[in-house]
Amino acid sequence: MLEEIKKCAAFIKAQTNDYKPEVGVILGTGLGGFADSIKADYILEYKNIPGFPVSTVQGHKGRLIFGQVEGRRVVAMQGRFHYYEGYAMTQVTFPVRVMQQLGIKYLFVSNASGGVNTSFRTGDLMIITDHINLLPNPLIGPNMEELGPRFPDMHNCYDKNLIAKATAIAEKEGIKLQYGVYVGGTGPTFETQAEYRFYHAIGGDAAGMSTVPEVIVARHMSIPVFGVSVITNCGLSDEVGDHEDVQLQGRKAGIRMEKLFKEMIKNL
Ligand code: HPA
Repeated sequence: MLEEIKKCAAFIKAQTNDYKPEVGVILGTGLGGFADSIKADYILEYKNIPGFPVSTVQGHKGRLIFGQVEGRRVVAMQGRFHYYEGYAMTQVTFPVRVMQQLGIKYLFVSNASGGVNTSFRTGDLMIITDHINLLPNPLIGPNMEELGPRFPDMHNCYDKNLIAKATAIAEKEGIKLQYGVYVGGTGPTFETQAEYRFYHAIGGDAAGMSTVPEVIVARHMSIPVFGVSVITNCGLSDEVGDHEDVQLQGRKAGIRMEKLFKEMIKNL
């Protein structure tokens, strides 16, 4: 596996004139706008990167964008790999391993999720303060000692300094933030009402199908992580979701998230 990771990183370095991104960004639903705001220097399609899985979700772009945000070099994944698509957890997290080899110092992750905290509203931005993993752990298997320890600590999984920065920026920019625990399940089904209640009971604030694997692997390699979730629906509400309204809220939230990410990257 390590050899595959290194081969892939070497290929990318050769294709990008040894680009050295400082920040890795994984773009989830609602963050497409952020990709457009990157001053791209190189764009690589996943299908042309040896060792990279290819996204199967319709409408999801699959490409790595190397470019600048506020003068800082970033590498952004437009389209991620989900366990529910049938990938092994090592495949889901492969790009994070490769980004580490390219030299990223921070990982920013984003996603869409269903709120189970009853004070959350559709369109809210939730800073991920912690997670509960209900997916298979991506570190199961032989440990790659060169990359990190067998038993990684998961305190401060979502970097407290980055969260404090986000809070300060949001205050300054007038962006409303929620904070909470992201529960990562396998999907692809959305949760039953009983499952949303279960997530709430065990201390979750939002339910999703991604992010946790990538974050675990980043923390295995001691990369500080910042995560944001767009609340696109409220799992415990009786209201029948209005799809158009959800999409609209998502787009609006996407704009706020883009602003937050940009300002965060500027102020790293
Ligand atoms: N559950 C799981 N994943 C999701 C949800 C949800 O309610 N909303 C958006 N992604």
